[in-house]
Amino acid sequence: MKFLELMERGSKILGSKYALLGGAMTWISESNLVSAMSNAGIFGVLASGAMDGRLLQNEIALTQEKTKCNFGVNIILVNPKLQDLIDVCGEKKVSHVILAGGIPDKSTIDKIHAYGVQVMTFAPSLSVAKRLFRQGIDALILEGSEAGGHVGPVSTMVLIQDILLNMREYPIFVAGGILRGEIIASLLQLGAVGCQLGTVFACCKESVAHENFKKALLKASGRNAATPVQLDKRFPITPVRALENAGTEEFVDQQREVLAKFEKGEITLDNGRLLLEHFWAGSLRRAVCGGDVDRGSLMSGQIVELVKEEKHITEIINTIISEADDFLARVS
Ligand SMILES: Cc1cc2nc3c(=O)[nH]c(=O)nc-3n(C[C@H](O)[C@H](O)[C@H](O)COP(=O)(O)O)c2cc1C
Repeated sequence: MKFLELMERGSKILGSKYALLGGAMTWISESNLVSAMSNAGIFGVLASGAMDGRLLQNEIALTQEKTKCNFGVNIILVNPKLQDLIDVCGEKKVSHVILAGGIPDKSTIDKIHAYGVQVMTFAPSLSVAKRLFRQGIDALILEGSEAGGHVGPVSTMVLIQDILLNMREYPIFVAGGILRGEIIASLLQLGAVGCQLGTVFACCKESVAHENFKKALLKASGRNAATPVQLDKRFPITPVRALENAGTEEFVDQQREVLAKFEKGEITLDNGRLLLEHFWAGSLRRAVCGGDVDRGSLMSGQIVELVKEEKHITEIINTIISEADDFLARVS
């Protein structure tokens, strides 16, 4: 079977030529990159990050001007403007909303469906995956801890065996540590309907990320893309996979300082937690838009190991397709 045929189920769900999503990346997945992805045949996803309704409306309009193809909008569930963002997606007739940063409740899923928009989201375990499908989601993305950005604790390989292999008949996309066509073809053979890639597109020619950000990623190895060390359980750290730099080292120092102050009774637990939470505020923007690769957050997945050149989106896709077709011919 050819790769394109294997992707048919996923392509139908997304309404794109290929069953590949260009995962949303805050500050990076804006109208230029997303429209370029969709025009190249994959399914681009706008990152709404901390946007409000008005900003998202503009970004969707700009994207719609640049492509007639389907694209999705990624909405972070803890965004205080969640309801406005859903309304904007519905009014602008976006085809899919991808809910991230939590587990959506049924009322949120229903509200999006009432606009005729499809809902996709993430699940960390088999029981949650089953519940989400019972609540009506249209497709699921399994994202393992190898991925760039905010991650869960479980690897892609384990999620595949825990969820995908037990739910083959459900529409499931896989993300985190994926790039080569051979792996994508294998996942499709195992029952996935498609895959989501992020890091490789952060570094592509169409990405608006600052040159310094791209260069840092292109020269990094997989081991540099780590989640932060947590010094004390009482001060939990949000697991975000990013390249180690001066900022990540300072973050460990900051934790030490907060802990010492807390032990001496100089600050409360809540104040300490707040100080740590605020440490990274605006840091992705600083790196992606301002090019500060020392103190900004260089969010990136472990797959950065395989990303060594700034390529056009079409080149990346064509390589994936030929790798997948060669592999399928070899094993048939
Ligand atoms: C710089 C960066 C920013 C990201 N921002 C988001 C985001 O805003 N929302 C989200 O759901 N995922 C986000 N992600 C995850 C990607 O959408 C995608 O799922 C992930 O990168 C796939 O794994 P990979 O990095 O191994 O390709 C981000 C990833 C990166 C590298």
